[in-house]
Parts: sequence; structure tokens; C-alpha cells
Amino acid sequence: MKKFIFIIAFAFFACNTSADKNPEIAKNAELVMYKDSEMALLMREMFIFNEKTKEKIINNQELGEFPENFLNIHSAILTDPTVRTANFDAFSKGFITNQQILFSDPSKATKEQFNTMVNSCVACHKTTCIGPIPKIEKLLIP
Ligand code: HEC
Repeated sequence: MKKFIFIIAFAFFACNTSADKNPEIAKNAELVMYKDSEMALLMREMFIFNEKTKEKIINNQELGEFPENFLNIHSAILTDPTVRTANFDAFSKGFITNQQILFSDPSKATKEQFNTMVNSCVACHKTTCIGPIPKIEKLLIP
């Protein structure tokens, strides 16, 4: 039951901008809902991972290793492939750099660096997918 609510929450926050733009996708909305893109799945993983990372930073715990599969942001198939532009690639690199810095050295595992990383998620979302922004901003450590 808990897992079920979780899935609904994600469907609610998913980015539907492509459906707004493209009637063909809107028509297939039902299909899209059940078959999430590689990128959507990666994003959910990044969100959950960073929820845990936030807790570790607050509790002064070791962060472990940078998850190398986050580099798939550079190649994962998107719901709307036209989203992948030079601008998108620049935002991807910015985010990856900020996430890597956090893991590069225990002295860099700070609240400030974590929030910088979260803000680089938000920066890209402002240009491509505004739906999940309020949810992503909840990651910020006050
Ligand atoms: C380079 C741009 C970019 C960056 C950086 C980025 N996102 Fe995304 N995000 C997207 C795009 C585009 C989608 C829509 C993916 C799709 O539908 O294929 C998305 C989708 C999502 C979703 C909705 C997934 C779903 O259920 O459909 C969440 C949640 C999310 N991102 C969270 C994050 C978090 C957390 C970070 C940082 C840790 C982050 N994003 C970094 C562009 C980005």
C-alpha cells in the first residue's frame, strides 16, 4: 500500500510539458504513464538517492561513493527527445560536477555544497520540466 501511494505521488509530480506541446503524446498519455522513459526512471533514482544523502549530511555520516550511473543523464532516452539540446547538456554537466564535488572529499560534504547541487537540478528543470520543482526544492537543507 505504501509503495502504491508512492507511485501515485510520482505520477502527480511527473513532468507533462511534452504532452501540453504535442497532441500526439497527449493522445497516448495513458501509454506514457505506464511506460516511463529511461530519464524519468533515472530522475526518480536521483531524487531518492539525494533524500538519503540529505539525511547523511544532516547526521554527519559518511556519504560513500558517487553513483556512477548518474552519468547516464548524458545518454538516457527522454520522454521528449527534443529536450536534449546543447543547453540541456550544459545543465547536465553542471549538475554532475556539483554532485561529484559532494563526494570528492569528506570536507566538501557540506550543507552548502548539497544545496548548490539541488539548485542545479532546479536550474535545469526551470528550462525543461517545471512540474517537479516544488518537490525538488524540498530537498534543500534549511
Ligand atoms: C539537465 C536537466 C536536468 C537535471 C540536471 C535534472 N533534471 Fe530532473 N528531469 C529533467 C527532465 C527533462 C525530466 C523529464 C524526463 C522524462 O520524462 O523523460 C525530469 C524529470 C524529473 C522528475 C520526474 C520523474 C517522473 O516521475 O517522471 C523528478 C522527480 C526529477 N526530474 C528530479 C530531479 C532531481 C532530484 C534532480 C537533481 C538531483 C534533477 N531532476 C536534475 C531534467 C533535469
